Amino acid sequence: MEINQAEFVTSMAAYGPFEGAGLPQIAVVGRSNVGKSTLINRLCRRNKLARTSATPGKTRLINIFLLNGAFHLVDLPGYGFAKVDKQEQKRWGEMMEGYFRDTQELKLTLHLVDIRHEPTRDDLQMNAFLREMGLPFLVVATKADKISRGARMKYLAPICRQMQVQPWQVICYSSETGDGREALLEALEKALQEEKEPPAEEPES
Ligand code: GTP
Ligand code: MG
Repeated sequence: MEINQAEFVTSMAAYGPFEGAGLPQIAVVGRSNVGKSTLINRLCRRNKLARTSATPGKTRLINIFLLNGAFHLVDLPGYGFAKVDKQEQKRWGEMMEGYFRDTQELKLTLHLVDIRHEPTRDDLQMNAFLREMGLPFLVVATKADKISRGARMKYLAPICRQMQVQPWQVICYSSETGDGREALLEALEKALQEEKEPPAEEPES
């Protein structure tokens, strides 16, 4: 799959009906500053589609993008941003819970973690939340350009152990080098494909 077309659809503080809703969705979650919006831009080869910033806490709303006119990519606000107060934290929790509770079209959640760091408590909470909700997810280890290729396994080990995934289930990704972009597109295609092809019906006996 390649992304030939990408456009911004809408932003919202609370998930609800929007124009064109009903297409399959892929959501992007992770700590603030982990590279969610940058990943969306690189995936679409568009520099300013999703707003990014070197300062954490850039994305504060649910941002929806339409890709290839076929599916929605949902950029969610990051967690674990130290500077937010209790009220903002509560708002974030409600926004996220509301989204995951109300979306009917979610096919896959990309859970981004920084390859250089062990998962934070918030990362593990998100991991537990996705599991509890029975939502299919894919762990994407971002900023892979910041470490050498040879060191990848060393960094991936604690991430895999704590997030209970196997190393081959994790995509090492870099928005700087484009590493992992192909693998990610393949994973998206697969998740969207499964949608189109419902499991074959059991033959009647
Ligand atoms: P919030 O919107 O605050 O939740 O953050 P975000 O996860 O959307 O992060 P964003 O995409 O805005 O990126 C944060 C910073 O990390 C920016 O300065 C990016 O340039 C940088 N960054 C993102 N991805 C990569 C990457 O793969 N490699 C490197 N070296 N830097 C990256
Ligand atoms: Mg962002």
